[in-house]
Amino acid sequence: MKSNQAIVITGANGNLASYFNRQALEKGYNLILFYNHQNTRLQALQSEFSQKIRLIKTDFAESKDLKPELDSIIRSTGWQIDALFHCSTARSSDFQSLSDSTPETWERIIDVNVKGTFRILQAVLPYFRQQRHGKIVLLGSNVTRIGLPRGSAYSASKAAIANISRSLAAEEAKYNIFINTISPGPIKIDDSHFSESYRKFREEYYREKMSEIPLKRCASFEDVCGLAWFLISENNQYITGEEFYITGGKL
Ligand SMILES: NC(=O)c1ccc[n+]([C@@H]2O[C@H](COP(=O)([O-])OP(=O)(O)OC[C@H]3O[C@@H](n4cnc5c(N)ncnc54)[C@H](OP(=O)(O)O)[C@@H]3O)[C@@H](O)[C@H]2O)c1
Repeated sequence: MKSNQAIVITGANGNLASYFNRQALEKGYNLILFYNHQNTRLQALQSEFSQKIRLIKTDFAESKDLKPELDSIIRSTGWQIDALFHCSTARSSDFQSLSDSTPETWERIIDVNVKGTFRILQAVLPYFRQQRHGKIVLLGSNVTRIGLPRGSAYSASKAAIANISRSLAAEEAKYNIFINTISPGPIKIDDSHFSESYRKFREEYYREKMSEIPLKRCASFEDVCGLAWFLISENNQYITGEEFYITGGKL
């Protein structure tokens, strides 16, 4: 691979992205990492790989044009963006039914997850169009097909993400841009950043879901990242607009 190849990763300090970041660096990629509040994991990476990492702090709830910051990094480094791995997410952490949910909570989740997806796509697509090459992986969730009681905003936002990728696959195919959504079931993560009550809600949900998974375990980071790497790779020359469920056999 060329030494100037780069990947844009959002939610970069998160669980899944942190695993992917390290794999990407070991493969030789440069990384442009979007983070929100937390950057503890990224600081550790940065001290190890300072020349290969650039950080951008952004709250996707804000309606901000993200391209100028990308432009400035590309100008100063000479990197070429090959792919986007879009992991950032807001969750329905109030775990309320729609009837009891506040408009503010709903709007925030839609702002971060749907409008945020729009913004990051608008920022990277001009590069991909110009170079006639680009691979995009968005993170959905299997709630796009089973729903999420007490999480309707999150499940609606993930369904929107999957449909954005279907639409874009058709719009951008002529520029050799590929876009897919990966929709995992429960992944085992470090959930210490969640409130105690939300952790409890998740634990109950996971316990219930585990009994329905034929392979009897959560998805691992490797299960998800392995597919992402294939979709991003040169080996993928035909798969675009798809939503891939990673659910251990649960339909
Ligand atoms: N974990 C699972 O079981 C599971 C299952 C299915 C799908 N997924 C999907 O897989 C992806 C990664 O999941 P994960 O478990 O690794 O998530 P995670 O550890 O919670 O990471 C999510 C990241 O999104 C960032 N974020 C939150 N609000 C943001 C905002 N307003 N603007 C910018 N960034 C924001 C967070 O940053 P801050 O902490 O600084 O706010 C965090 O780094 C997500 O899209 C998730 O929906 C996860």
